Formats: sequence, C-alpha cells, structure tokens
Amino acid sequence: MSGVVRDGEADRKAALALLFDRSAPTYERVGVEHFDDLGRRLVARAGVTAGERVLDVGCGTGAVLVPAARAAGPEGEVIGVDLSPGMVARAREEIARHGLRRARAFVGDAESVTPAGGDGTDGTNDTGGANGAVGVSLAPGSFDTVLAGISLFFFPRPRTAAARYHELLKPGGRFAVSWWGRPDPRWDPVFTASAPYGRGPSSHALPANSPFRSVDAFHAMLSDAGFADAETVEEDCVTRFADAGQWWTWVWSTAGRQFWESIPDDAREDAVAAVNAELDALKAADSSLTSVSKVRFTVARST
Ligand SMILES: C[S@@+](CC[C@H](N)C(=O)[O-])C[C@H]1O[C@@H](n2cnc3c(N)ncnc32)[C@H](O)[C@@H]1O
Repeated sequence: MSGVVRDGEADRKAALALLFDRSAPTYERVGVEHFDDLGRRLVARAGVTAGERVLDVGCGTGAVLVPAARAAGPEGEVIGVDLSPGMVARAREEIARHGLRRARAFVGDAESVTPAGGDGTDGTNDTGGANGAVGVSLAPGSFDTVLAGISLFFFPRPRTAAARYHELLKPGGRFAVSWWGRPDPRWDPVFTASAPYGRGPSSHALPANSPFRSVDAFHAMLSDAGFADAETVEEDCVTRFADAGQWWTWVWSTAGRQFWESIPDDAREDAVAAVNAELDALKAADSSLTSVSKVRFTVARST
C-alpha cells in the first residue's frame, strides 16, 4: 500500500518538476513583481542575520535565496533545493549575477532533503539530485533557519517535511513559511468563467485535511513536528498588471499555466474569450488590473 502511495507521489513530483521547468524561462520575468517581493518579506519576517546557515526549500529562481544570502552575508551560508532543474539553473544565474559567494542551489527533493541513497543523518552529503550538493553538510542541528517561500503546499507530505526541518535545525532555530490566505474575491468571476474548460489543482483548493486549511491547522502541524511559538501574520499581496495581456503572460509564467495546458486545443479560444470578458470588468481606467490576495507569513521556533 505504502509503495503505491510513494509511486504516486514520485509521479506527482516528476510532473511538478516538469511544470516548473516549463515556467522557469519566464518566471518573475514578465514585468510583474510578485515572488521577489514576497521573498524579501519572508526573509525579513524570518529575521535572518549575518553568519547564519540557511536552507531554502523549493528555492525556485531565488526569490527567497537571494535576499537570504544578502542577510546571511559572507560569513553565512545559504543552500537552496528545488525539484526543477530549470528553476535551479535560474537560481544559479541569480547567485552569480549578485556575486553571492556563500549561496548555492541544487536539484533535489526538499521534502526529505536526504543524500542520494542515504538517510540524511550523516555529515557531508549531497541533497539527492543528479546535480548533487557535494560538500553540503546535512548534519542534524546544523541550520539556523529553514525558509519555504510559496512552496510547502506543493509537497505531498508537508508534515514529514516539517519534521525533517526540525531535525536539521539547531534548537531555537527558525522555520519560516509563506503561504496563501484567501484569493482576491473580485477575481472570482475570472476563475469561475475558466473552470468548466480545464482541470488542475489550484493552490487555493485544498483537501479537507490539509494543514493549510487554516492558521490553527498549520500551527498544529508545526507543533506535532516539534516547533513552538508559531506566529502567523496575514498581509496583502498586491499584484499589478499593466493590462490583460500582461496578466495572460504572467499566468503562463507561473504554476497556474497547468490549468491552461489542460484545456483541449479546440476549447481554448472559447475559454480565453470567457475569461477576457471578465477581465474587462476588472480593468481600471488605464486598463491596468490589480489583484489583492492575502499572504501569510508563519515563523516557528525549533525546540
Ligand atoms: C511557486 S514556486 C516558489 C519558488 C520560490 N521559493 C519563490 O518564492 O519564488 C514553488 C517551487 O517549489 C518547488 N517544489 C515543489 N515541490 C518540491 C519538492 N518536493 N522539493 C523541492 N522543490 C519543490 C517547485 O519546483 C517550485 O520551484
């Protein structure tokens, strides 16, 4: 039974890696600031300070990793892990562009952060990807902070992941997570109009037992995993699009493209027309569109 579940999970992770590989070339590169802003806010909330050793799980193109590496400075170290080779390649470009000598990014499964073929409990290891993180210590209690920016809800087993981060953190170390609160209700008609045409999970459509269904449920999961003093703040995530065309380009640069890829070719034109009609209703006088969703920042302390 568990083998079947794990096979399913492996398939889901492989599909997710390919999905983000397709997004990688344009992710946060279409003139819409979204993830970079959230990344800076997560690092500020986590309170990363000079000299810290930081693990960034689901590092993507470096929206969290870059500000974390700046905060940790030349005496610190930041390790990013992501399933998608395309995202990791972009993160490495960012590391080089910003001259961050103490930051590295690796392909691997951040849910377990184990060395290839190992159990992750020994000292210097790799993080389990083909581009293994040679020379990275995954010793228990060897990190000051673990950061998860808009990534943890993609993991099939967030509880297992949290327990693993508790193991990797020093006592008193911080686990800081950004995740979604409610989407902007003014945009509901856009998603309602598109819904009949495609399929695919939305990060806002969560199973009843998901730890992301409420702040209390999330704090309970963290407590089960060994964390204390969890605190969550909810803030606005304001995303501005110059016009409807830029919104479309942006959707295709994110995981949201999965829904649009699922629409059969012969239905796509109708789906686009249905959504464009709703986007028209949201336009400001200058044709811009603004979404104000809620983002949550949770910080917990490792006991
Ligand atoms: C929405 S992106 C966020 C990336 C980055 N943290 C940011 O703030 O822009 C989610 C990322 O999580 C990664 N991801 C999802 N599941 C993962 C897993 N099990 N292990 C490692 N990375 C994972 C995806 O490949 C993707 O790059």
